[in-house]
Amino acid sequence: MSPLSITRTLPADATAAALRTDVTQGLSRTPKQLPPKWFYDARGSELFEDITKLPDYYPTRAEREILLTRADHIAAATQARTLVELGSGSSDKTRHLIGALGSLHTYVPIDVSESALAAAGEALLADHPGLTVHALVADFQQGIELPATPGPRLLAFLGGTLGNLLPDERAAFLRSVHDMLSPGDALLLGTDLVKDEATLVAAYDDPQRVTAAFNKNVLEVINRELGGDFDPADFDHVAVWDARREWIEMRLRARKDLTVKIPGVDLAVTFAAGEELRTEVSAKFRQEGVRKELAAAGLELNSWWTDSADRFALSLAFRV
Ligand code: SAH
Ligand code: AVI
Repeated sequence: MSPLSITRTLPADATAAALRTDVTQGLSRTPKQLPPKWFYDARGSELFEDITKLPDYYPTRAEREILLTRADHIAAATQARTLVELGSGSSDKTRHLIGALGSLHTYVPIDVSESALAAAGEALLADHPGLTVHALVADFQQGIELPATPGPRLLAFLGGTLGNLLPDERAAFLRSVHDMLSPGDALLLGTDLVKDEATLVAAYDDPQRVTAAFNKNVLEVINRELGGDFDPADFDHVAVWDARREWIEMRLRARKDLTVKIPGVDLAVTFAAGEELRTEVSAKFRQEGVRKELAAAGLELNSWWTDSADRFALSLAFRV
């Protein structure tokens, strides 16, 4: 087998059917909402990479700082021969881990974005010619069958993407992570931390308007895939901190009364001026909450590391 393989675990029409279902259900309910995974076509993946370089978007830099200082410890504690990464995107920070994992045999990046997987796989192999990269185009919320690769296994879920799932989705997801691991295998989990509102809102509402373009990209995806006639200029990007639920919500707010036609799902959707469509939640965490959510899924928190400014945490947990 070539050192880079990309396997699509679901046929393309299953992805199209999932988009149709999410758009039909999400735009027919009140309040309107869509799951964040539809941001990430090739353009959305590029926009996310641009976000990670913004001065106000601290999570990527904070997590990289932790990975750089803890990668050797993680390698020694896990002795991983297979590294699986969910929502791997560009795999950029993962390079620090791959460099430290001396006994690593196979890297299994998993993402809905095929373009991100292809670019990441090629870049990684240029730096690590001995590595086998077995990429999977898959939805990490749909149950994933991992390739048969040598253990021990380390499963990484970085960037704070856990926070993009709703609480009941998080519980189901962490249970599925447990089921992908054998006793003694490990989970490396990145979570953004609760902090002051101004810092949080600035991270999701940058003056450069990159996050606004990322948010509106979901409308472009619906237009392209389902023939919709959304005009992104009809919507304002909104980022608000929900202090009770401790999450940021990204929304798109209609600037006027309008009707959007989406022939691919046979829908005409009306928006009243000021009406909002929720496109993402980004939950922020505290150590005790993470410990409890892991324990409920049969995963024991072993180490908790934060960056020097205590903005972001990396947890190492083991399947018991
Ligand atoms: N882990 C990277 C990328 C985070 S962006 C980092 O820390 O920088 C979130 C990534 O998760 C994107 O690449 C997106 O395509 C992917 N993603 C989002 N929802 C997904 C899902 N349901 N299944 C698989 N991948 C998903
Ligand atoms: C991928 N995920 C953790 C990002 C976040 O911060 O919730 C997605 C994002 N949304 C807006 N900016 C970045």
